[in-house]
Amino acid sequence: MTKKILSQEDAVTWLKSLEDGSIDLLITDPPYESLEKHRAVGTTTRLKNSKSSSNEWFKIFPNTRFEELFSEIFRVLKKNSHFYLFCDPETMFIAKPIAEEVGFKFWKPIIWDKVKIGMGYHYRARYENILFFEKGKRKLNNLSIPDIIECPRIHKGYPTEKPVDVAKVLIEQSSTPGEVIADPFFGSCSVGVAAFEMERNFIGNDINDSAIKIARERLADYLPEQPQESVETDEIDDIKFTPQLSFTLA
Ligand SMILES: C[S@@+](CC[C@H](N)C(=O)[O-])C[C@H]1O[C@@H](n2cnc3c(N)ncnc32)[C@H](O)[C@@H]1O
Repeated sequence: MTKKILSQEDAVTWLKSLEDGSIDLLITDPPYESLEKHRAVGTTTRLKNSKSSSNEWFKIFPNTRFEELFSEIFRVLKKNSHFYLFCDPETMFIAKPIAEEVGFKFWKPIIWDKVKIGMGYHYRARYENILFFEKGKRKLNNLSIPDIIECPRIHKGYPTEKPVDVAKVLIEQSSTPGEVIADPFFGSCSVGVAAFEMERNFIGNDINDSAIKIARERLADYLPEQPQESVETDEIDDIKFTPQLSFTLA
């Protein structure tokens, strides 16, 4: 199969282009409908459409598309593998039963603790959920890692940018070097950066021009001799990468 490392199309269309059982681990963070609510009440300034926030491009992915999205994710994952879904508390209750219906085993929400409080009018937001799903059976690599990952949020980054260090914990737990990690909504490509730093392979997708541009810049350090545009392979397993940094889990 010929697959670019970075693709730009609708997430479900992109997933449909991948072969059954070709991905070892999928970590993703779709732009949920609930973001619209936060935008409407003005608590999430960075997500508003305005010249200053320059993010008119940030489109949401409707909850009505979860079934087709999760079905495709289930299909492309290998038989014994994990799927992590970044999720706000509201969307968690909608996403979980749909993912279970398509075949995933739900284990638990992992908490990303942002350490300091953020937006909100009451019980101000300090955490996000990461739903932990399994296809078949795969043991976590380290059974003593807690279900709360403490890591400060990213300031002034890509809207809703997730820290590379959070993705690294999930990658460390649910994959081994050389395996293929995918993210169909990569945004600033934190998952891709984490994957390459940890000597995993990565393929990803985002519909947006800015995301593609940022991802190319961020991954350039890890693919110094291969401009993203031209990176194509005959087999996903053959994707070549040159990790520049190593990572030690604290
Ligand atoms: C919440 S952001 C991802 C942020 C990312 N986790 C990070 O750390 O930067 C969601 C991304 O989904 C993209 N997106 C929106 N609709 C999409 C679609 N139908 N298919 C693929 N990508 C889409 C947006 O452009 C946005 O970059």
